[in-house]
Amino acid sequence: MRLLVFAGSTRQHSYNRRLAGVVARMARQQGAEVTHLELAEFEVPMYNADLEAGGTPPDVMRLKQIAWEHPAWIICAPEYNASYPALLKNTLDWLSSPVKSDPLWSDGLRSTRGKVVGLLSASPGALGGLRSQGHLAPLLLSLHCWLAPEHYALGRAAEAFDAAGELVDDGARRRVQAVLGQVLWAAARLQPG
Ligand code: FNR
Repeated sequence: MRLLVFAGSTRQHSYNRRLAGVVARMARQQGAEVTHLELAEFEVPMYNADLEAGGTPPDVMRLKQIAWEHPAWIICAPEYNASYPALLKNTLDWLSSPVKSDPLWSDGLRSTRGKVVGLLSASPGALGGLRSQGHLAPLLLSLHCWLAPEHYALGRAAEAFDAAGELVDDGARRRVQAVLGQVLWAAARLQPG
């Protein structure tokens, strides 16, 4: 199974980037083919239809292709003001915007339709970014993603990782594993053929 993992943060010491690292390593150990994407490595401007009319940025096209190639995704979403950050919204808006000049990508949902998505979040607060997931879920459904019922919000994230970036608490690892297991299980069953 090809699994795409990414965090909605580009911060150097991001908890969500660390959580993405944890789940990516777990998935590899279980035989998944994992792409751990860092959004900081893509030059994606703030969405603007006038700018888009001059051509979809090359890194947006790269992102569309990568997203399309992976039937299973896990998103680690920070929480900003009880919702998800603009970085995630902007990335998903570009992903879903049709490329009118390109017959392959004129279908705006080509890179998101049918993806099985697992949601994780991490926050230094007690709720772990749960409200971020609550806002992200309807957006993903509108992109025709299938959301895994299992999800996990890691609270008190400042104390949750050891120096190697692993989760210190076995209970937290089990919760992440439950999301991962369900995403891989469902994505295998939704694959055509
Ligand atoms: C936050 N943070 C935050 N945390 C939370 O649990 N609930 C919230 O509503 C908010 N709101 C919020 C707004 C803004 C503008 C910022 C910058 C931050 C704190 C946030 O969880 C914290 O900065 C995390 O460390 C962000 O995630 P990464 O970068 O560590 O992955």
